[in-house]
Amino acid sequence: MRFNSRHIEHYSQHGYVVVENFLTADELGKAHEEIDRLIPGWLEYAHNPNKPKPDHFRDPPRTRRDNRFPFAGEQLNAITLHPDLREFAAINAGHDDLVCEQADLAYKYQGHRADREQLMHLDYTNHTLVYPTIDRQYWQTAYLIYYTDVDEGLAPTAVCSWQHYKDELLWPTSYEKHKRASLYENEVKVIVPAGSVLAYSMRTFHRGTAFKRAGARIGEFVTYAPSGCPWLGIVGWAEQGVHQSFQDWVETATVEERSLLGFPAPGDAYWNSEALAGAAARFPGMDLRPYQLI
Ligand SMILES: [Fe+2]
Repeated sequence: MRFNSRHIEHYSQHGYVVVENFLTADELGKAHEEIDRLIPGWLEYAHNPNKPKPDHFRDPPRTRRDNRFPFAGEQLNAITLHPDLREFAAINAGHDDLVCEQADLAYKYQGHRADREQLMHLDYTNHTLVYPTIDRQYWQTAYLIYYTDVDEGLAPTAVCSWQHYKDELLWPTSYEKHKRASLYENEVKVIVPAGSVLAYSMRTFHRGTAFKRAGARIGEFVTYAPSGCPWLGIVGWAEQGVHQSFQDWVETATVEERSLLGFPAPGDAYWNSEALAGAAARFPGMDLRPYQLI
């Protein structure tokens, strides 16, 4: 388990924790190979910002869906559903009945439309229809995985411990600096090597900061939430079903991984003979034996 007791304690005290070098060198290297295929040129530019940016950098992705799980390849998908991300989310929620409700690649460079000083904010307005209650059984654990090095000049995420607002009702969800300077004065910048992870929550104030020099930052937002809560979650995964990467992933994923996306588990009342036949027709490469009726 890559979250140790010190990490768990820090998260419970402050609402966030940074785990440096969460990914192994092998995982990071394979992730880089996939990122290079998904967004050609970005890693190269991040490593050497003296080079000119490829022209297509100026084209925003057609939709956010293009940069969303399931990714073409295996490593980014495996990192997204990493058992330790799940286990840490389960510790926070007090149970293991979870789904992965977000997995988006996010990347920007100095001068990119996403390069700006964000306001201190909470993320829950697009992760729940309601309010992120303190009741831990509904706890959503958010992660930002960094695939490139982040230093002071490369737009580090800033995060403010909930020790500074812990007994408040969390509304509004963002503050300008002059309205609430303490959130900014107590912020901690997440300066980490590639392969590190920030874990935070829907009750944790944070913000993106602007680049101070030329460079790029590539990351991935991943969020886990309790299952069976239709008011939680930033996406419905079925919208990804039109992409080949979705088909490939469903056919090769484990039963546990499918369940993390909300796929009906073996033994679920959903599975009848027609549903099994339909799934077999749609996903011919999938091993449906675990879902067979007994
Ligand atoms: Fe945010």
